[in-house]
Amino acid sequence: DWKIQDVLDEEIKNIKSMVGTDEHVICALSGGVDSTVAATLVHNAIGDRLHCVFVDNGLLRYKEKERVMSTFNSDLHLPVTCIDASEQFLSKLKGVKDPEMKRKIVGKEFIAVFDEFAHMLEQQTGKRPEYLVQGTLYPDVIESCPPPGSGMTHSHTIKSHHNVGGLPEDMKLKLIEPLKLLFKDEVRKLGSILNIPESFLKRHPFPGPGLAVRIPSGDVTEGNALEVLRQADEIYVQAIRDAGLYDTIWQAFAVLLPVETVGVQGDQRTYGYPVILKAITSEDGMTADWYYFERKFLADVSNRICNNVRGVNRVCLEITSKPPATVEWE
Ligand code: XMP
Repeated sequence: DWKIQDVLDEEIKNIKSMVGTDEHVICALSGGVDSTVAATLVHNAIGDRLHCVFVDNGLLRYKEKERVMSTFNSDLHLPVTCIDASEQFLSKLKGVKDPEMKRKIVGKEFIAVFDEFAHMLEQQTGKRPEYLVQGTLYPDVIESCPPPGSGMTHSHTIKSHHNVGGLPEDMKLKLIEPLKLLFKDEVRKLGSILNIPESFLKRHPFPGPGLAVRIPSGDVTEGNALEVLRQADEIYVQAIRDAGLYDTIWQAFAVLLPVETVGVQGDQRTYGYPVILKAITSEDGMTADWYYFERKFLADVSNRICNNVRGVNRVCLEITSKPPATVEWE
């Protein structure tokens, strides 16, 4: 696609002139398509003055760290440092139920980890990195900061995406956002030109605040909620892959409601969490339709979750489009 090739050439030129010939740049890889494409693009522009970091924030999906690190190392050859900061994130999230607070805390901790990483690089290279790469897309920009003249004020802002809003004012790094004018399908085309494997480019989106926003109105550190959600989500998404539906669906995931509901398992009364299954089709995440699964698929997933995930006794299905619902539950 010649247009995407133009965007690529233009961005590489911009980054080269912005960063100059001896500044260093850091990039946080989330394991998603956006940050990976952004990093690969910047890597093309400035080579080994780019330093990537993958942060385990304790809010990742089942085996996510192992899976993405192996992709970065074996397939993409991007130099990535993995930092385990899960205790740091989870201790800050303890007792927090408010969705915007969770997003702000996660955003703030990310920046703190990046600052530490930058400091570490300064010791190693003798030069403090000045820039931070983010995979912000156009829909993130308009949802967080409505364009002037759109008639929306900031109070209409739907939610603060951690990679757009909520950055601490004392942040010392300047932002590079090479995907800021692109939609998701354009980012995938760009990734393809950059030789990122198709299987990776087709990964469903996953929000920066991770599983923190998939236990709505809940303290994610309470009990074993995160682990229960991870297991249910893995069974569900793996079933979607096995059924050959992964590429048809734009995004699918499980949500855990942090309430106790009564059930009966064996001949015991149980109290467990309800798990919501969600799957949507979409062009760009701005609007979405719920996906219509066959009855047998849903029945199998429901049985497998209830039989294998201790702490779940109820599986529900979301049948709401966007609008009126957003993709994430908070
Ligand atoms: P919503 O919930 O706004 O989601 O309808 C639209 C798309 O954006 C993803 N999303 C996020 N991504 N940080 C991110 O990086 C966030 O805070 C965030 N919130 C939502 C969501 O998964 C969907 O693909």
